[in-house]
Amino acid sequence: MTALASVGLDAGYGGTAVVRKFDLELQEGEILALLGPNGAGKTTILLTLAGLLPRIGGQLEILGEHAPSGDPVAVTRRGLVLVPDDRALFRGLTCRENIELGRRRGIKTTVDDVLEFFPGLRNRLDLRAGSLSGGEQQMLAMARGLIQEPRVLLVDELSMGLAPIIVEQLLPIVQRVAKDTGTAVVLVEQHVRLALGIADRGMVLVHGDIALEAPSQELLSDLSVVEAAYLGVAG
Ligand SMILES: Nc1ncnc2c1ncn2[C@@H]1O[C@H](COP(=O)(O)OP(=O)(O)OP(=O)(O)O)[C@@H](O)[C@H]1O
Ligand SMILES: [Mg+2]
Repeated sequence: MTALASVGLDAGYGGTAVVRKFDLELQEGEILALLGPNGAGKTTILLTLAGLLPRIGGQLEILGEHAPSGDPVAVTRRGLVLVPDDRALFRGLTCRENIELGRRRGIKTTVDDVLEFFPGLRNRLDLRAGSLSGGEQQMLAMARGLIQEPRVLLVDELSMGLAPIIVEQLLPIVQRVAKDTGTAVVLVEQHVRLALGIADRGMVLVHGDIALEAPSQELLSDLSVVEAAYLGVAG
C-alpha cells in the first residue's frame, strides 16, 4: 500500500517556495534516502510533510487519506512521525520520561517494546537525557518516535554531530524498523554511501528541485552520477 504520496508539493516560507513541485510516492516498508547539498530544501520538505510548515501548494496523502496543510496533530494521528535534526529531547527529563512523552492515548506499544530496537538504552532509562552521548541521544529520539507507532517515519540528519562509526551502527536499526514493521522511511542524510546502503531508493534535491531519483543499487554502482547531480551537472 502507498504510505505517503505528495503531488506537486510547493514548500517554503512566507508564501515563497524553496522546494517546487515535489512529487513522491513511498510504499509501506520502503526507505527513501533524501540527499542533496546544504540549503537544498530537505528539512523544508520534511517540516512540510509533517505539517509543521503549511504547504504553499500541492496535495499530500498519508495511507491513502488526505492530510490537511499545516496541521501537525492531524498528520501525527494519520501515522506520520518526524524525528527532527535537533532531536528535540527534554534534557532534564529521564530517558524513560522522554520516550513516554511520545505515547498518545490508545497506543499499545510500550517503552520495553521500542527498546527491542535500542537495547543499549535499557540501562540508561533512569538517567537524564542530557547526560547521554550523542549516539545515545539519537537512539532516544528514535525510540520516542517509534513509540508513536509510525506508519511513515521522517528522520532528519540522524548523523548530525555523530562519528561515522556511530552512524554505521544506527542506520541498520532504521532499516530493521522499516522491514520488520512495514514503516515507510524518508531518511535525510549527508553520508550518501551509508544512506544508500540501507535505502531502497535515493533522491537528490538541488535548489528545491528533484535533480535525480533512482534505485539505491543503481546509484551505488556509479556514485559519480550522484556527485554530478549535487553539482547541478545534467546527468
Ligand atoms: N525559517 C526560514 N525562513 C526563511 N527561509 C528559510 C527558513 N529556513 C530555511 N530557509 C531557507 O530555505 C532553503 C532550504 O533550507 P533547508 O533547511 O530546507 O535546507 P536543507 O536541505 O535541509 O539544508 P541542510 O543540509 O543544511 O540541512 C534555504 O535557502 C534556507 O535559507
Ligand atoms: Mg536540513
